[in-house]
Amino acid sequence: MSEKNASLTIGNDTYELPIYEAAVGPDVIDIGALYKNTNMFTFDPGFTSTASCESAITYIDGDQGVLLHRGYPIDELAEHGDFLETCYLLLYGSLPTAEQKTKFDAQVTNHTMLHDQMTKLFTGFRRDAHPMAIMVGVVGALSAFYHDSTDIADPQQRMIASYRMIAKMPTIAAWAYKYSIGQPFVYPRNDLGYASNFLHMCFAVPAEDYDIDPILARAMDRIFVLHADHEQNASTSTVRLAGSSGANPFACVAAGIACLWGPAHGGANEAALNMLNEIGSVDRIPEFIDRAKDKDDPFRLMGFGHRVYKNYDPRAKIMQKTTHEVLGVLGIKDDPILDIAMELEKIALEDEYFKKRGLYPNIDFYSGITLKALGFPTDMFTVLFSLARTVGWIAQWKEMIEDPQQRIGRPRQLYRGESHRSYVPVDKRG
Ligand code: CMC
Repeated sequence: MSEKNASLTIGNDTYELPIYEAAVGPDVIDIGALYKNTNMFTFDPGFTSTASCESAITYIDGDQGVLLHRGYPIDELAEHGDFLETCYLLLYGSLPTAEQKTKFDAQVTNHTMLHDQMTKLFTGFRRDAHPMAIMVGVVGALSAFYHDSTDIADPQQRMIASYRMIAKMPTIAAWAYKYSIGQPFVYPRNDLGYASNFLHMCFAVPAEDYDIDPILARAMDRIFVLHADHEQNASTSTVRLAGSSGANPFACVAAGIACLWGPAHGGANEAALNMLNEIGSVDRIPEFIDRAKDKDDPFRLMGFGHRVYKNYDPRAKIMQKTTHEVLGVLGIKDDPILDIAMELEKIALEDEYFKKRGLYPNIDFYSGITLKALGFPTDMFTVLFSLARTVGWIAQWKEMIEDPQQRIGRPRQLYRGESHRSYVPVDKRG
């Protein structure tokens, strides 16, 4: 498999390590036999130089600002396709034919309802629960309701579980929102498209009709496309690690949701909007820029920077355009938060500190503003991210389960604690 080797010299011994060629992007050095041969581990907290798996789903070139799904650039998918088409692409490796698309859309749409008993689960939560807390709980509980699709060794069950999650996630997310504002749950409508159905479940009420603006539905769909997958990020790695033990896919996706919740990951769009509110006016921007640069201040500009993109996040470009479309449709011209966002973007892009470190606005910077304009409260932002990312998690989980070389994930450590201590009874400890 490997034509090239790397040599590692430790003391007087030299070890040959196979190098595997990537289709595009950095090749990898296989250190799998290192411990056996050298009795040493490698050390890479945060996985900055470590490929945790082999994958053929998503490719990112952070320096060039490139994001490809199965080889297709994200801007082409967002511009010309729709979310369910991207789901098909991520799951099956190629874009569907017209016939495959019709069949796939219909099959997913068939699963939008939740088991009726699940409504009781929602009502067990406090009304003021963060909707992400509800998401973690309810998605984890899917395995209690759909045990006929938890046998991971059965490809048919894996497929049904995948369709169920893609289809039910909008219903769960919308109901988490409805519950938090004290409105009745709105059931899915299978005559609507994926994004329109979601908007309907969020904003319709039984007392009056809700008209879905096609441009807003398109924007929602585009937000889903832009968030569908992002290679081996923290939540996806969490899903893979959870799945590597053989856990069922619903439980694995619930683990991914828990990870996504953090402000350094999916919680960033909520944090970005909170930050814009905190800044409050354009004239206070320099103060916050100074704080972001101050190493003694933990404050960071939320919505700026990315572990992988050290150039412009390609998703941010499309999101910026979508933001303006949405604000145009809704007639929002003088939004003070948007003014702050635009000015902050301008200042940060010209600032040496940010330029030197490759800190550009990321997708969360714009998605927060767009979601606010669409009518979502900030605590729903990460929920929408988890809805969209579900397909990525599932595609990555499925790829892992179908890999014949798959083993349980078990990182090692550099142990620096006490080497050995003998137990001392409590009355003898001083
Ligand atoms: N504001 C100010 N300084 C920053 C920021 C920021 N947002 N992000 C990074 N830096 C500085 C950091 O202090 C460091 O400076 P120095 O080299 O002088 O020590 C340098 O830039 C490199 O930072 P890092 O912490 O090594 O970068 P990282 O790759 O570990 O962190 C990050 C990536 C996204 C966690 C970080 O940029 C951050 O906290 N950003 C704000 C949160 C955010 O917007 N997150 C969303 C990420 S995109 C959504 C997703 O894909 O999940």
